[in-house]
Amino acid sequence: MKKHAHPEVDFAGCIVAWQRRHGRHDLPWQNTRDPYVIWVAEIMLQQTQVKTVMPYFARFMERFPTVMALAQADENDVLENWSGLGYYARGRNLHKAARIIAVEHGGIFPRDFAAVTALPGIGRSTASAICAFAYHQRRAILDGNVRRVLTRCFGIGGYPGDRKVEQRLWTLAESLLPGNDEDIVAYTQAQMDLGATVCLRSRPLCSLCPLVDACVANREKRIADFPGRKPRKAVPARATAMLILVSQNEVLLERRPPAGIWGGLWCFPEMPPDEDACARSRDRFGVAGEPGAELQPIVHGFSHFNLTIHPRVVKVTRRAPRVEQPGSTWMALDDAGRAAIPAPVRRLLGLLRKS
Ligand code: ADE
Repeated sequence: MKKHAHPEVDFAGCIVAWQRRHGRHDLPWQNTRDPYVIWVAEIMLQQTQVKTVMPYFARFMERFPTVMALAQADENDVLENWSGLGYYARGRNLHKAARIIAVEHGGIFPRDFAAVTALPGIGRSTASAICAFAYHQRRAILDGNVRRVLTRCFGIGGYPGDRKVEQRLWTLAESLLPGNDEDIVAYTQAQMDLGATVCLRSRPLCSLCPLVDACVANREKRIADFPGRKPRKAVPARATAMLILVSQNEVLLERRPPAGIWGGLWCFPEMPPDEDACARSRDRFGVAGEPGAELQPIVHGFSHFNLTIHPRVVKVTRRAPRVEQPGSTWMALDDAGRAAIPAPVRRLLGLLRKS
């Protein structure tokens, strides 16, 4: 190991050997060098666990087996296949990037690191993971798992999202790369596997860790100190109401404008929480109705605020002949569950079914 921490420990050699014996070898995006397959997996795996990603990945690959298939699809189709994974910007960027690859790279996923990083939705760490797995380039990754492993092993304090701490971690990550290209795949996977299966956020399984003797956090019994937490700012609370118009087994959904929260997704119409839902239904959608089931408010956390959503169910008694407006549609409950809808709308559909 270089000048950092413990010169007696060969960080890369140690975790590569561990990966070969104890790491994961049969994930559906392993054992391939197809950059498209690896790219889709890496994007899905951002902020999302392997077991959640599995079924989405299989469906997505079946529906969009190549970059060109993805580039030729329309956005709504892509978002429908993303629905439920959350962080929809990932799906939109994947689609945008596929179109860029089709037009600017002749449909071939680029090899050049700068060209990979230039694609929408691909940051430095994701670009490195793709280039390591697909092209065996020696590149350092630094996702959430790796930050946890490095801050603990090397006792690096401070919040890893802080620019200075982050820079220090990148420098460290680059200094730790294995010396030869052959090991880069196992090394990259080792960091992910160690973070996901041993160096857990809470109650890590240190007795199974190949770095147990070197790890500063373990030696000093300060595991809870790493990674350092983000200095907390209180997030503001906002409230809205969603109008859930129910007509037989159909609900009314509106397509959100492309920019902003839940852009392009299907959603229940929003309204101010203090307004009367039946009056709103009549004025806005020309339907007569009576108050339906009373559902509990739900809270959805965004990075910058918490949104309390008050569901307002209205049982429609008479539907106007021209209720369909551009951007809104009646959808059967089962179809709504399969449409491109954000997580809170999915939760509300669940509550509605149970009511
Ligand atoms: N998390 C991010 N990338 C991953 C990968 N390729 N395998 C398993 N978990 C991951």
